[in-house]
Amino acid sequence: MSYVVEMLNIRKEFPGVVANDDITLRLEKGEIHALLGENGAGKSTLMSILFGMYQPDRGTIRLNDKDVRISNPNVANDLGIGMVHQHFKLVENFTVTQNIVLGSESRKFGLVLDLKSASKRIEQLSKQYGLNVDPYAKIEDISVGMQQRVEILKMLYRNAEVLIFDEPTAVLTPQEIVELGKIMKNLIAEGKSIILITHKLKEIKALADRCTVIRRGKSIGTVEVAETSEATMAEMMVGRQVVFKVEKKPAAPGKRVLHVDNLSVKNSKKVLGLKNFSLDVHAGEIVGVAGVEGNGQTELVEAITGLLKAESGSIVFGEESITGSSIRERIEKGIGHIPEDRHKRGLVLDYSLEENMVLEVYRKRPFSRRGLLNKGAIRDYSAGIISSFDVRSGQGGQSIARSLSGGNQQKAIIGREIELNPDLLIAVQPTRGLDVGSIEYIHKRLIEQRDKGKAVLLVSLELEEIMNLSDRIAIVNGGELIGLVNAAETTENEIGLMMAGVKKGERA
Ligand SMILES: Nc1ncnc2c1ncn2[C@@H]1O[C@H](COP(=O)(O)OP(=O)(O)O)[C@@H](O)[C@H]1O
Ligand SMILES: [Mg+2]
Repeated sequence: MSYVVEMLNIRKEFPGVVANDDITLRLEKGEIHALLGENGAGKSTLMSILFGMYQPDRGTIRLNDKDVRISNPNVANDLGIGMVHQHFKLVENFTVTQNIVLGSESRKFGLVLDLKSASKRIEQLSKQYGLNVDPYAKIEDISVGMQQRVEILKMLYRNAEVLIFDEPTAVLTPQEIVELGKIMKNLIAEGKSIILITHKLKEIKALADRCTVIRRGKSIGTVEVAETSEATMAEMMVGRQVVFKVEKKPAAPGKRVLHVDNLSVKNSKKVLGLKNFSLDVHAGEIVGVAGVEGNGQTELVEAITGLLKAESGSIVFGEESITGSSIRERIEKGIGHIPEDRHKRGLVLDYSLEENMVLEVYRKRPFSRRGLLNKGAIRDYSAGIISSFDVRSGQGGQSIARSLSGGNQQKAIIGREIELNPDLLIAVQPTRGLDVGSIEYIHKRLIEQRDKGKAVLLVSLELEEIMNLSDRIAIVNGGELIGLVNAAETTENEIGLMMAGVKKGERA
């Protein structure tokens, strides 16, 4: 068998961590090869090596049976290797064509750019691969899904034969994910070869031919996807059996903790994002909010946590109205928040992990006394969270938050919020970007909060997560509550219809 790419015995060490330890990955021509591993397993590092962003400490890379040295991304491009990164590298106020041509022709030939013929070629590529991208559109005017396609076009424009996708579905809606799957199949049909980084087993099952699993920097093995169950791949990934179905007893709801009454909220664009919305959450229950992204979830959460103000209506927490309370007052009263945007609202990226773990409580005992910080207490408290939530980093509590992988940042925030043991925990997309092992753990901890008699409001775009965890499910559409159902008495289909705006009983 000859391979398009062979990465043999690759090693890469960062301060305090061996990110890749003797990893081997072989890519066949015309296959979609999944690279599966937990957060921090070393996937991005391995692909960054293939793309020339890092040099391996040891190991060889072979392309079509020849040894190569990929000293930087330009060399990778010239060798026919392209990569779509987790965070796109596009210039907002440039057009699609300008972005694609940037650093390509200009670098190679130093010619005045012929944007018109470039646009033609982009249009043609877009058609050939079913991408549906307008070469003249400005990046700032197109959706994230479209921006990703621009990144794909960038690779195709440079004649890439090997395409690397680093967790491409993390930023997409369910519909866009389906579209991306089709695009990948088109790419394969045209003879390209793909490496797909993901930790979603369903996606691997749907798209990939083979799958290489790495765990904590080491190769675990490569399997034929069609012959391997999701459970087996999950076990290879985390090193133990994973329970997919969440075990939980029936809820025993107690008194009302949160009462949202006829609430209307304007969003940052001054549009009413939430309209006359009412919902109660009781102690000892998980209420899930299901909906397509952008249907009022953000406004609801930000109004409850105090980030947005209510236009009308009220929010009662326990016995008290908190409609006009400050963010800090709400935290003090017992509202915990796992935010949607962990960079903007969750962590201070330039602080250490330790400092981040006490952001809300550092003024209190035992963390400060008479205005002085008690470093020892902070260290012990953080170490507890880091160990129970398995937050992996190079230098433990001393690591700068920015240096952690996204999934580990997420685990840190969740750990911090659960540790505060709030009467109401608002969990927004708590497992986005996490691998199955971490998802399982976080689900258990959310149910544990419920069983301790706490109220949990769960907002998620993953319908499966909502169905598995919630006792009751509120469905939002266009900023309104379109339905409220008992989880035990509904189906994914029924909720899916309501998410699309069809009220219960309205279906002909
Ligand atoms: N530039 C870097 N400097 C220091 N440590 C890094 C760097 N990039 C990654 N790491 C560490 O290497 C390990 C593997 O990270 P990464 O390859 O990003 O994992 P994955 O993509 O599988 O989530 C992690 O422990 C991460 O913290
Ligand atoms: Mg990664």
